[in-house]
Formats: sequence, C-alpha cells, structure tokens
Amino acid sequence: MKLTPSPLHPEFKLGVLGGGQLGKMLALAAGNWHLPLYVLDSDKGFPAGRVTPFFTEGNFKDYDDVYRFGRQLDVLTIEIEHVNTEALHQLEKEGLTIHPAPAQLDIIKDKGAQKLFYKEKEIPTAPFRLFDDEEAVRQAVARGEIAFPFVQKSRTAGYDGRGVSVIRDAAGLEGLLPGPCVIEEQVDIDKELAVIVARNAHGETKAFPAVEMEFNPEANLVEFLFCPAAISPELEARAEALAIEVVKAYDICGLLAVELFLDKKGELLVNEVAPRTHNSGHHTIDSCYTSQFEQHLRAVLNFPLGSTRMKAPSVMVNLLGAEGHAGPAAYEGLEDCLAIEGVHIHLYGKAMTKPFRKMGHVTIVDERLAGAKAKARKVKELLKVVSR
Ligand SMILES: Nc1ncnc2c1ncn2[C@@H]1O[C@H](COP(=O)(O)OP(=O)(O)OP(=O)(O)O)[C@@H](O)[C@H]1O
Ligand SMILES: [Mg+2]
Repeated sequence: MKLTPSPLHPEFKLGVLGGGQLGKMLALAAGNWHLPLYVLDSDKGFPAGRVTPFFTEGNFKDYDDVYRFGRQLDVLTIEIEHVNTEALHQLEKEGLTIHPAPAQLDIIKDKGAQKLFYKEKEIPTAPFRLFDDEEAVRQAVARGEIAFPFVQKSRTAGYDGRGVSVIRDAAGLEGLLPGPCVIEEQVDIDKELAVIVARNAHGETKAFPAVEMEFNPEANLVEFLFCPAAISPELEARAEALAIEVVKAYDICGLLAVELFLDKKGELLVNEVAPRTHNSGHHTIDSCYTSQFEQHLRAVLNFPLGSTRMKAPSVMVNLLGAEGHAGPAAYEGLEDCLAIEGVHIHLYGKAMTKPFRKMGHVTIVDERLAGAKAKARKVKELLKVVSR
C-alpha cells in the first residue's frame, strides 16, 4: 500500500490537469503554503507555466499523457472538465485520490447526463429533452412537440457559450448545432446567479455569497459580475441551500460552481455546474476572507474550509481581447486603471490575443457596490487588450 504523505510534507505531490489561468491562480494560492503544484498542459508558455516549475507538457485529453502524469501524484484535480476520464478511472482503481472523481466528471462533462441527474435527484432545472442529432430535433419541431423559442445545447462540445444556440423561429432551425444535444425551454430569466460551494472529505460544506452575472450578448461571456447579488436575504439563503444540496447530491470534494437562473416568477433553477474553480469566483481573491483557489485546495486536501465571508462588495470585469485585434497582446490604459482606488488587475500572460479571448480580469472593491460599479465602468472604458 502506498502511504500518502501529509499535504504539507515537502514530498507531497498535488497535480492539476490544465495550465491556463485557473491552474495559474491555483498554483499561486498553493504557493502561500509553499506547496508545489504539478501541472499538465500542452505548452509551458501557458499561464501556469510562469508560476510553477513542475509543468509537464502533454495533452490532458490523451490517455497515456494523463495516466503517466497521474502516476507520480498523491492527489489530482482539474481546471477543465474536458479531460481523459478513462485514464482517471484507471488511476482511481490504482488508488489515486482524484477530486472531482471520474464518475462525477463523466456526468458533468455531458450536459445531457447532467440534466438527467437533476431530474433523478429532483433538483429544479429547466424542462428538457435529449436528441441524437439536429435532424431528430427538426422532426420533433415538425410534429409540434417543441415550441419556439427554445435553447439547444451540444451535449459535450460546449464551453464559454459556444455550444449553446437559441432558436427563435422556423428560420432559426438552419442554425441548429450538429450532434447529440439537449433541448431546453427558454427560461424567462430575471437574473443569472452563481454560488460556489466547497465540500471536503469530512463532509463539511461552505458556500460563497451568491454573485450576479451580466453577459456580453455578442460573445455569450460574462462581462460584469457583482458581489453581493441584488437579491433578498431570503433568496440568498435559498440559493446557498440549493447549491449545497447540489454538491451533496454529486458527493463531490472540492469546489462546485453552481450556475443558477432566477426566473421572473422568483423560482431558482440550476443551469449547470462546474466541479472546479470558476470565472464567477475570481473576485474572491480580493474581496473574500478566503479565495476560491485556496478553498479548492483546502477542500481537495481535506483541510478545514475557510471562511467565505465578504470583506468588501466587488465587481469583477473579464478582460477580453478587443474586437478587430488578433496577434501578440498589449495592454492599453493599464496605468490609468492602477491609479483608481480598489482596482486589482490580474493578467493571465497569454501571448496572443484575439477578439473576446479571456486575457485577464479586474476586480474592483469598494465600501459600496454602487461605487465599485462606477469604477468598473471606468475600467471597462480605459483598459483594452489590443495586438501589438
Ligand atoms: N434554458 C435557458 N433559457 C434561457 N437562457 C439560457 C438557457 N440556457 C442557457 N441560457 C443562456 O446561455 C448561457 C450559456 O449557457 P450554458 O451556461 O449552459 O453554456 P456554457 O457553454 O456552458 O457556458 P459557460 O461555459 O459560459 O458557462 C447562459 O448563461 C444563459 O445566458
Ligand atoms: Mg454556463
């Protein structure tokens, strides 16, 4: 039997699949405990490569690369769901601790399996049906079984809104996405909320305060995120309780980001989850007692979870590549933004920019949310990612 050293023993090896910005910020948080983070991704030039020397170049979608990488570790986690889970199942059989577990990942990676899971567990979610391909959707529409407008989601190909299509009328059927999909009723959304919860192997759970997201309609990416969300304490409690119910249903250790819709009738629906650190938790680095990255480490290493209390209201702005710019990245307006009180700029160090690519984020903290919002609008105007 392999004896696992204590997580803070110098020989302890924690690994993560994926070396993008989430892997980088996880490595930075691990650095506070002088805990090395082992990373697998295809290029040392990726964001995490700058902050950890333990970077293995390889493909996290490839069985052999993941298996070889995992063999040397004590605990393995992820920063992206689309990894080779067959290798993870094998590593788990051989005794490796993996959070989230491969069986949980198999469900979450597949939007169809996720929706079936919510139905089975009686977790509120938008009504849906599953289809094998777009032709089957067309036939169901022709039979009058699906009414416009509806939302189509690729079961496995989606990320950052790319596998999601809103079909408004018969003409919109031309734009159906190919392959197996979920068809959902379009929810009459009042607000989009997210609650990040953590759970450790002792079963302890903690939720961060709910955040409210505002999307860029063109890119389908989060443009502004507000914490706290403008919702009643009663709704806040319901959102947190629902997120905790979901993490318990999945039986996950680590973080679970739960994306929620608040509909116009005041009902909360689970949209989807991500079993990892998440874009909707970046503000926690600067505005909460514990950052989501430290919380994920605490949870996967089975340490006591940190306080999720807010230190100050905040707004998070995703720094997206400017339209019309593709090539080596440069930042305009950085100094003007740094001069504003409460502005925290996080650059991911991606060499190349392109329109709407996530190049960094900015968190603005202020005593009042209204003050943070005003500064966030200013940051949005001033700070641009362009090509050199
Ligand atoms: N049933 C629905 N009704 C109305 N709008 C929806 C519905 N499903 C999704 N949307 C809209 O599309 C967005 C993206 O959907 P979803 O979160 O499922 O996709 P995604 O590709 O995983 O996106 P991301 O990676 O950004 O989370 C949602 O945030 C919401 O604005
Ligand atoms: Mg989403």
